[in-house]
Amino acid sequence: MWASPGLLLWGILWVIVWKGHLSPAFGEGQENVLESLTVSSKVHSKICEHNGFQKARPHTVSILEFGAVGDGKTLNTHAFENAIFYLRSFADKGGAQLYVPPGQWLTGSFSLTSHLTLFIDQGAVILGTQDITKWPIIDSLPSYGRGRELPGDRHCSLIYGENLTDVVITGENGTVDGQGSVWWDLYRNHSLDYTRPHLVEFINSDGILFSNLTFRNSPFWNLHPVYCSNVVFQDLTILAPHYSPNTDGIDPDSCTNVCIKDSYIDVGDDAISIKSGWDEYGISYGKPSANILIQNIHSVTPTSAGIAIGSEMSGGVQNVTVENMVIRDARSGFRIKTAAGRGGYIRNVYLDHIVMQNVSTAFAFTGAYGGHPDDKYDPEAYPIVENIVIKNVVGDLIQEAGTLFGIKEAPFRNICLSQITLDVCGPFKWNCTDVEGIYSNVFPEPCPQFLNDSKQVDIVCSSGYITYGGSLLDEVK
Ligand SMILES: *[C@@H]1O[C@H](CO)[C@@H](O)[C@H](O)[C@H]1NC(C)=O
Ligand SMILES: *[C@@H]1O[C@H](CO)[C@@H](O)[C@H](O)[C@H]1NC(C)=O
Ligand SMILES: *[C@@H]1O[C@H](CO)[C@@H](O)[C@H](O)[C@H]1NC(C)=O
Ligand SMILES: *[C@@H]1O[C@H](CO)[C@@H](O)[C@H](O)[C@H]1NC(C)=O
Ligand SMILES: *[C@@H]1O[C@H](CO)[C@@H](O)[C@H](O)[C@H]1NC(C)=O
Ligand SMILES: *[C@@H]1O[C@H](CO)[C@@H](O)[C@H](O)[C@H]1NC(C)=O
Ligand SMILES: *[C@@H]1O[C@H](CO)[C@@H](O)[C@H](O)[C@H]1NC(C)=O
Ligand SMILES: *[C@@H]1O[C@H](CO)[C@@H](O)[C@H](O)[C@H]1NC(C)=O
Repeated sequence: MWASPGLLLWGILWVIVWKGHLSPAFGEGQENVLESLTVSSKVHSKICEHNGFQKARPHTVSILEFGAVGDGKTLNTHAFENAIFYLRSFADKGGAQLYVPPGQWLTGSFSLTSHLTLFIDQGAVILGTQDITKWPIIDSLPSYGRGRELPGDRHCSLIYGENLTDVVITGENGTVDGQGSVWWDLYRNHSLDYTRPHLVEFINSDGILFSNLTFRNSPFWNLHPVYCSNVVFQDLTILAPHYSPNTDGIDPDSCTNVCIKDSYIDVGDDAISIKSGWDEYGISYGKPSANILIQNIHSVTPTSAGIAIGSEMSGGVQNVTVENMVIRDARSGFRIKTAAGRGGYIRNVYLDHIVMQNVSTAFAFTGAYGGHPDDKYDPEAYPIVENIVIKNVVGDLIQEAGTLFGIKEAPFRNICLSQITLDVCGPFKWNCTDVEGIYSNVFPEPCPQFLNDSKQVDIVCSSGYITYGGSLLDEVK
């Protein structure tokens, strides 16, 4: 398998930490637990194997054939546009590949087409221009009703795709560098008129593969698929300085069938944040994020979370599995962010085999996140948060095990905690309000809102069905 040396190292460390820490806690139920884990990952692994995109293309052209100059100074937007316009004619002939050779290819925003492979070779860097006028203004998303940061429209991502099918962005670890520092400064000194752009965005597209590449210095969230299906992210490195504002790694937003695997994400905000629209706009657009598999990720996020859901989740988030993840140097390990007014739901979320290292709060749920698009939201649109399974977690250098704050009118329910050992160095372990759940073998001991029931917990939390419907506590009672 193709993986960065860092990832391999962590894989080995993982096995050591894993065996050392958890074997004693497993005891008799071990085989059953592992068996049901296998069952549950089988449900989802197809998502990573689908054939929504084609890898080999019968035709290839180089960006050089369109007059591009890889000196890091010449603006190549027209070369990219012309190349992609030309390659549109191959759509019904198996598609085509646009080859980007070694060099520094400065460009403004450009749009892709269907049945296209963008291949970025080793030593090739697609550089986003720091002239922000070359990142055009486009409509805000209907599920947000406005730009995320500012009312009105927003800037277009560097690499953009709308209504596409069968697109591959890959290479021999080539790079897409947004050179986002100009945006971070403008954002900080309140000099922008529109919401910042992503590095790559796909809207309403199906069959997208990102692989074998490095993405860095995005102006805003790095990779943003929205209203998409069958999207795979594999063997990626995503980097942004820790001080860079809102440079999330990957944000699946109202997307179904998304696989994110074998990647290293070290950024200035959440590594992965699953979303689905904002308050009344997200509720009326009504497009959930569902069937999301996250495997073998290593994240470093000192200002934020390894895995986050929300805060924009008004179209609903369901069927999320996170397996084999190392979350390092993070403010929170797993974070749920929502608020009254969001509506929607977060349900059937399954975290398994997680190692946390140097994390302030291992589990941070809040039902009072705030931040509304305008004052037209319904304050009684309460989100439903239920069926959250967290098992097989070890953590070192943890300040706080969990702050789990639900919503009084809509408590977070059916939370299952199992086989969790956290080395908590701070004075406060767990702090909970408006949540309920069940646990077994959790150290330190969770808050009193959780029922200690080792007999039921392994059956209920391991059986596929708690992850995908059904009600945990109703079954136990
Ligand atoms: C790809 O490039 C990034 C950034 O230079 C590097 O950190 C990573 O290790 C590389 N991955 C591989 C597999 O070489
Ligand atoms: C994408 O499809 C939508 C809905 O059919 C349409 O309104 C929009 O103009 C299309 N966009 C592009 C760039 O083709
Ligand atoms: C904001 O930051 C940009 C980029 O660093 C700079 O050019 C501009 O002068 C700053 N504006 C203000 C009002 O500080
Ligand atoms: C990544 O690159 C390696 C080596 O070139 C190749 O074997 C592998 O298939 C690529 N992975 C993907 C998902 O494209
Ligand atoms: C823990 O993470 C913080 C950043 O969140 C970092 O400054 C610190 O050096 C890390 N400590 C260790 C022991 O790795
Ligand atoms: C969630 O997963 C279950 C079981 O695999 C499936 O029946 C259901 O359709 C999924 N939900 C969505 C919204 O796809
Ligand atoms: C629990 O959290 C609440 C709200 O943040 C805070 O006021 C309280 O002091 C915390 N209690 C403990 C014991 O940490
Ligand atoms: C939880 O249950 C286990 C097994 O029944 C028991 O050994 C342990 O002492 C219980 N913990 C608490 C805090 O009651």
